[in-house]
Amino acid sequence: MKDTPDANNKEVESMFDSIAKHYDFLNRLLSFGADIYWRRKAIRIISEYLKPTYILDVACGTGDFSIEAAKLNPVKITGIDISEKMLDTGRDKLSKKGLTHKIELLRGDSENLPFDDKQFDLVMCAFGVRNFGDRMKGLKEMSRVLKNGGMVMILEFTKPAGKIFGKIYELYFFRILPLVGKMISGDPSAYKYLPESVYNFPPEEDFVRMMNEAGFSDIHYTSFTRGIVTFYRGLKIEQ
Ligand SMILES: C[S@@+](CC[C@H](N)C(=O)[O-])C[C@H]1O[C@@H](n2cnc3c(N)ncnc32)[C@H](O)[C@@H]1O
Repeated sequence: MKDTPDANNKEVESMFDSIAKHYDFLNRLLSFGADIYWRRKAIRIISEYLKPTYILDVACGTGDFSIEAAKLNPVKITGIDISEKMLDTGRDKLSKKGLTHKIELLRGDSENLPFDDKQFDLVMCAFGVRNFGDRMKGLKEMSRVLKNGGMVMILEFTKPAGKIFGKIYELYFFRILPLVGKMISGDPSAYKYLPESVYNFPPEEDFVRMMNEAGFSDIHYTSFTRGIVTFYRGLKIEQ
């Protein structure tokens, strides 16, 4: 496994396949439960701007963001991910929660979305863009399948602000997290890849420029939890 964010999609797929069974538990443990709060907060913000009918959750993994987005009461949520094992874990959760009528999880690549143009009112992606082999291609695909006037929303890890907090976070992220991740998931590289991919992700202003180049406008971003996570939103406005 090449420990860089541009590790090709096949490698990323097998990495997520290998940790799928432990993914949710490790998310809760390693973020001290904050991942639930981040997704919830993102959906709460979106609820102030739109009432989407059709939602696409790109890189949906085990479906937690889709499950949270069900609170927006859309007609349908489609989740898409390259890891079949992440999707299987997600499908089990949907059955248990009685959400299979509302949320469908499909296998597919974010860089080549299997949908016609302008299908969705909201296209969202939590902690996924960082993993794309070609981020610009992924962003352009998100724009393509979005209806005119639709909204994109992206949650991604970022480097936290503040010297002291930044140092403590770095210690945790680069030393403790990979050890715990390896112990529980049994995958030696997945939780080493996580901090490295985060620290190689573009800073907020650069990512906003990428979103703009991909076809989004009126882009705003907000930091969650001292900048550990950044929430981005933008619109697709065709002239
Ligand atoms: C860190 S997980 C995030 C999952 C979920 N969105 C969440 O909030 O928990 C990243 C996910 O991105 C998926 N992924 C990575 N590259 C992808 C691609 N090119 N197309 C579709 N999914 C991709 C992985 O399989 C994995 O499930």
